[in-house]
Amino acid sequence: MQPNPSERDPYNGLTSLQPTLPSAAYWDAEAYRRDLEVIWYRSWLMVCREADLAEPLAFRTVRIGSQEIVVLRDETGALRAFHNTCRHRGSQLCQESAGRLKARLLTCPYHAWSYSLRGDLVRVPSKSLPEGFDKADYPLYRVALSLWRGFVFINLAEEPDGSAESSFDRASGDLSNWPLETLVTGHRLTKVMNCNWKIFWENFNECLHCPGVHKDLSRLVPIYGRGLMARHDD
Ligand code: FES
Repeated sequence: MQPNPSERDPYNGLTSLQPTLPSAAYWDAEAYRRDLEVIWYRSWLMVCREADLAEPLAFRTVRIGSQEIVVLRDETGALRAFHNTCRHRGSQLCQESAGRLKARLLTCPYHAWSYSLRGDLVRVPSKSLPEGFDKADYPLYRVALSLWRGFVFINLAEEPDGSAESSFDRASGDLSNWPLETLVTGHRLTKVMNCNWKIFWENFNECLHCPGVHKDLSRLVPIYGRGLMARHDD
């Protein structure tokens, strides 16, 4: 039985008048760098569906701030994520945004260092290696990965807290009656937003603008047409 709205986890939205962020939060390069450090490089981020990487050797790259990550399915079927950066001189390893590796190795296009799909450096083409060089010291930088109901999440923190699921906002409601595992990707739309990321999120998280801006949507979802949202209208 669904809990009564008043019995759910406490409402976590604003309950009193708050000032908006200072304008610099939307355009200042230092503010953006801080956003990356304290939010984007420390949070669980959904990158794709498990089914998007259904076959062994399938990979996908994703950029978060200045960091490029490769997510792949290894030959044993395990999903893994690494910084898409060679340990030799930092070249980009996978140069396409998605596809299937041609071998069970990630080979750098620059000087051909090769890594297993577990991220271990396994081959260096040079015949003479410096004394003390040990391949075991140069694995790819691993990225934490967490699965939840068919979704693949990554977290760039060295030691992330918990899992993707443990980071969810409980007040957002219960999704257990929704068969998320059965979803398949039917269409992928990529859009570059020419604005600071917070502008988009703030807009997405309210629908007070919907009656004026999205009239068709408001006709389909009557509560949006009211132009007035209550706490538990979700
Ligand atoms: S930068 Fe990758 S092998 Fe040199």
